[in-house]
Amino acid sequence: MNRATRKTVIAGNWKMNMTPSQTTALINEMKTTLPAEPACDVVLCVPFVDIAAAKAAAEGSVIKVGAENVHFEAKGAYTGEISAEMLVECGVEYVIVGHSERRQYFGETDETVNKRLLAGVNAGLTVILCVGEMLDERQKDITAEVVALQTKVALQGVDAEMLKKVIIAYEPVWAIGTGLTATDDQAEEVCALIRDVLAAKYGRDVAETVTIQYGGSMNAGNAQSLLSKTNVDGGLIGGASLKAADFAKIVEASNQD
Ligand code: PGA
Repeated sequence: MNRATRKTVIAGNWKMNMTPSQTTALINEMKTTLPAEPACDVVLCVPFVDIAAAKAAAEGSVIKVGAENVHFEAKGAYTGEISAEMLVECGVEYVIVGHSERRQYFGETDETVNKRLLAGVNAGLTVILCVGEMLDERQKDITAEVVALQTKVALQGVDAEMLKKVIIAYEPVWAIGTGLTATDDQAEEVCALIRDVLAAKYGRDVAETVTIQYGGSMNAGNAQSLLSKTNVDGGLIGGASLKAADFAKIVEASNQD
């Protein structure tokens, strides 16, 4: 983290978990476990149908509500999709795009990720852009190339002003939901590399202001050391964001110099 130049953001990604009533119960519990004045921004990205319950339960707390995806068109014949305008009217402030599960299971490409990112940013949402290599790509030693390409294509048409509404989450696919966490140094290396990609496009000063999270089996036990790295400005948390005590510990781990 480098809180002098950029925000630290801890965001939960609930994936396809929790009904509305479960959402209310978990957020009510989190309100008792989370620090009253965290050193980071705290976000929960929840399934679309849980947004209303999450907003109501989070009212008056530090928790901000996000969605897990957004469609790129404003409206029309796109059965099953949700537009940025719909999210904004529901009080959503953040949205994830390009999660590896969307890329793997739902045919998401760098180009569609770029379109979703633009739709989110143009609607005033803060977009959490996920990038990350697969295991075989790491083994082939092409992590840097893969992550740079994903980042560059996703940011086509994004100027420095728009970039203020973008968070990047580095999520090595082999670490997601597997219990295998990248080492602190692996996380730092790729987060720094992403910042170099940003610096080449926007200049070093702008790149230093962008929040770059790590995601992939981040938990109460490893958050502190991951967040101690200069270029790791937060976390995108799957499994551990479904447990109030664990999520609170990760948020607390952001309170370090
Ligand atoms: P995980 O998921 O923390 O359960 O590994 C992270 C993510 O997919 O964002």
